[in-house]
Amino acid sequence: MSSTDDTVPDRSFLKKNEDSSSLSVRAWVRRDALPCKRSHSCEVLTSPTDSSVALRAKDLVHAVQSGTGVRTLCYDSGYLNTIMAKSSITFIDGERGVMRYRGIPIEQLAEQSSFLETAFLLIFGDLPSQTQLEQFSKLVADHSFLHTDICDYMRSFRYDAHPMGIFISSMAALATTISAGDLQHLDKHIYRILGQASTLAANAYRHRIGRAFNEPRSDLGYTENFLYMLDRLSEDDYRPHPAIVRALDVLWIVHADHELNCSTACMRHLMSARVDPYTAIGGAASALFGPSHGGAAEAVVRQLERIQTVDKIEPFLDRVKAKEERLFGFGHRVYKSFDPRARILKEQVEKILELIGVEEPLFLVAKELERRALQDQYFRSRRLYPNVDFYSGVIYRALGFPTDFYPLLFAIPRIAGWLAHCREAQLAERELDLREHTHVIRPAQVYVGAAPRPFVPLHSGNRPPYQERDIECYRTRLSTRRRLGLLSGARLEERIE
Ligand code: CMC
Repeated sequence: MSSTDDTVPDRSFLKKNEDSSSLSVRAWVRRDALPCKRSHSCEVLTSPTDSSVALRAKDLVHAVQSGTGVRTLCYDSGYLNTIMAKSSITFIDGERGVMRYRGIPIEQLAEQSSFLETAFLLIFGDLPSQTQLEQFSKLVADHSFLHTDICDYMRSFRYDAHPMGIFISSMAALATTISAGDLQHLDKHIYRILGQASTLAANAYRHRIGRAFNEPRSDLGYTENFLYMLDRLSEDDYRPHPAIVRALDVLWIVHADHELNCSTACMRHLMSARVDPYTAIGGAASALFGPSHGGAAEAVVRQLERIQTVDKIEPFLDRVKAKEERLFGFGHRVYKSFDPRARILKEQVEKILELIGVEEPLFLVAKELERRALQDQYFRSRRLYPNVDFYSGVIYRALGFPTDFYPLLFAIPRIAGWLAHCREAQLAERELDLREHTHVIRPAQVYVGAAPRPFVPLHSGNRPPYQERDIECYRTRLSTRRRLGLLSGARLEERIE
């Protein structure tokens, strides 16, 4: 890495390992030794809010190449120490349990803002004025109506299809009814996606319960309209309970963004290939569906249902400690002292339970599980605390949502975050730093497979047997029936007799 001595005194250098079999690179950059950000060929990225510094991976490669001719890459399969974007949307300090959207503490937003106002803040960068918020809310509401083709498509799913599957496919299908490829009009796509996402989710729910879809209402707030579409039967004057509307607003505010989590990184990945935002949101929602990410709230409640009673908590925790199970709703890649979103939702749990007056044995199990895990050395030593999904699962359960609907309740608000990242990446490309954002995201791999070898034709008789394992076929009832059908007519009659 060539740099002037006065800008970066302690620079990276190469060191051959003792056994000469590998090279290691060490990079030292002292923050106080960085009067300017740019040295000759190595740009150092610094954060104004914390003390971290980062080197560009490609500068590291060039530095190593120029020194030795050997190409050095970073192996980081889980992105544990890799930065993929500069972003000014969400700030997280996992050590201190701090989270801010565009600089504003999440606690203040949860207490004083609405979901749509927070979505505006995330996507457009600042809090809206009264007029802007009204205009934005109207645009989103006006775009909440679906094309009838999409409604027909949604009705074509099986009655027991997972609602997240219906949602993901229908979101991607929106691109077929709208001229979606035109990223010049991203703001219009933003209103449509926000508006139609809640209608899609409500329809997925109604389809599962065999009821007609409700048309959205432009005169209701975002979360209120969503609950209305879910629950209205034939009443002309149906209105959801304001306390439940508020609880959902708070839930959706805390879920709206979380910097580069798995699904948001996926969104950035997809947008880097210039796919339309509807397809990209479908892809990001698919990433969110996994139980290690947005599927965790569902997994928490299923786990509580399996534990069933307080006396089974101890054996369950023993299995977790023996690594036979994971305690869903605990632990986080970033938060190592507490998850600020979980604190906010814990308060909401109390309020909702009081409002609804539900006496559910499952909530007792949840409380006791939390208490015991927090006291247990296994969890304490690994800094595993309840995360947002531990409480959101319990709230959704108390509000009577079916368990498989939870991932959708996470996906709708997270769309605000995905759109914010999509817009940020596009603006950066247009206005700020063309060089940086034009790359299609394309990580590298270490090839660990076979050395070069020739193709052996099947009939040559020289093909070595495939030894790794027998090819297994899981037999369903259907395939058993088919196997029976393979018998000749006479044998079939014999078998039937
Ligand atoms: N239950 C039991 N052990 C755990 C758990 C858990 N939930 N989480 C981590 N550990 C242990 C893990 O076995 C490992 O132990 P050891 O050092 O002995 O090998 C240690 O803690 C470090 O775990 P890790 O897997 O390296 O940590 P990670 O940062 O890669 O994992 C996580 C983060 C969220 C995937 C993980 O904590 C987990 O699987 N939690 C349960 C699923 C869950 O609740 N997910 C929702 C996350 S919050 C929603 C969001 O923001 O996306």
